[in-house]
Amino acid sequence: MEFLLNNGIEMPAPGFGTGAIRGWQADSDEVAQVIATAIGMGYRHLDTASIYGNERSVGKAIRSAGQPREQLFVVTKAWNTEHGYDQILHAFDHSQRRLDLEYLDLYLLHWPVPSLIQESWRAMERLLSERKVRAIGVSNYRISDLRCVLERAEVVPACNQIEIHPYFTQPEVREFCKTQGIQIVSYSPLGTGSWSGVLNENKPVTDPLIIQIAKRHRISPAQVILRWNLQHGWVPIPKSEHPDRMEQNLELGEFTLSEAEMSVLDDLDTGTGFNMDPEDAIEANMAMSVPE
Ligand SMILES: NC(=O)c1ccc[n+]([C@@H]2O[C@H](COP(=O)([O-])OP(=O)(O)OC[C@H]3O[C@@H](n4cnc5c(N)ncnc54)[C@H](OP(=O)(O)O)[C@@H]3O)[C@@H](O)[C@H]2O)c1
Repeated sequence: MEFLLNNGIEMPAPGFGTGAIRGWQADSDEVAQVIATAIGMGYRHLDTASIYGNERSVGKAIRSAGQPREQLFVVTKAWNTEHGYDQILHAFDHSQRRLDLEYLDLYLLHWPVPSLIQESWRAMERLLSERKVRAIGVSNYRISDLRCVLERAEVVPACNQIEIHPYFTQPEVREFCKTQGIQIVSYSPLGTGSWSGVLNENKPVTDPLIIQIAKRHRISPAQVILRWNLQHGWVPIPKSEHPDRMEQNLELGEFTLSEAEMSVLDDLDTGTGFNMDPEDAIEANMAMSVPE
């Protein structure tokens, strides 16, 4: 499935999350192998970030999988310590070198750094105009951060990648993005990976109501959640290291959730996410640096 972005390019869905494969910031042949397996199975959208420390593995996987480059949609992100006009240009060069790709499909500002939003965005627009990247966007942006971008932007962000799963659906920011033509990309769609420390029993994949729907359709709870995303028009980017789950997470086209089933999932929202609030992330993220 493909979603049309506001600049006319297509984003494949679902994507494949590469954060913390084989452990946080692991960058090895083993990581590349997992990602190459995902490409071989049919994933066309790969999500990484400079802070994941695995851009080299993503690049290696792309070269070894043998899929034509133009059929892949490669995303990376600039970390908080990389914001500012010159810093973004520099960070992009570094990411591009680590990935060893001629161009990227989507470059994102990973979290808002409120004092630097407008100058960082100007650099993003420059990268786009120089055709180093096919689309630019943001991640973890609140309505106030989006308003700040839009106040001076020549290019409206193509997407906002935010935490979305049935326990946290962020309706206000989604509604704002919709009015501006900004695509929603759902990260941690299954309720976060092991990096978060959230117990499996607290994640939506083990929710009794979701399990009930899964049984009815003879599919897995993860497939219910991912399909719910697609039917809402959001692009989920699940991560898995296990071929059976990777395959499951890709097979979302053979069933449809009814309106009543969609409402069951919508009603599970608790209003609280598992990841950091952008307000708390501003300082916390500054303390983490991007590995060379
Ligand atoms: N922009 C941001 O700030 C941000 C933040 C967080 C994440 N992300 C992106 O979003 C991606 C996904 O988020 P995430 O890794 O936090 O969490 P996630 O995709 O919601 O969940 C991953 C966890 O679910 C398990 N899983 C995968 N498929 C499953 C299935 N079919 N049934 C049951 N469990 C399954 C995985 O285990 P196994 O691997 O063992 O299968 C892993 O523990 C990341 O990799 C990253 O690319 C972005």
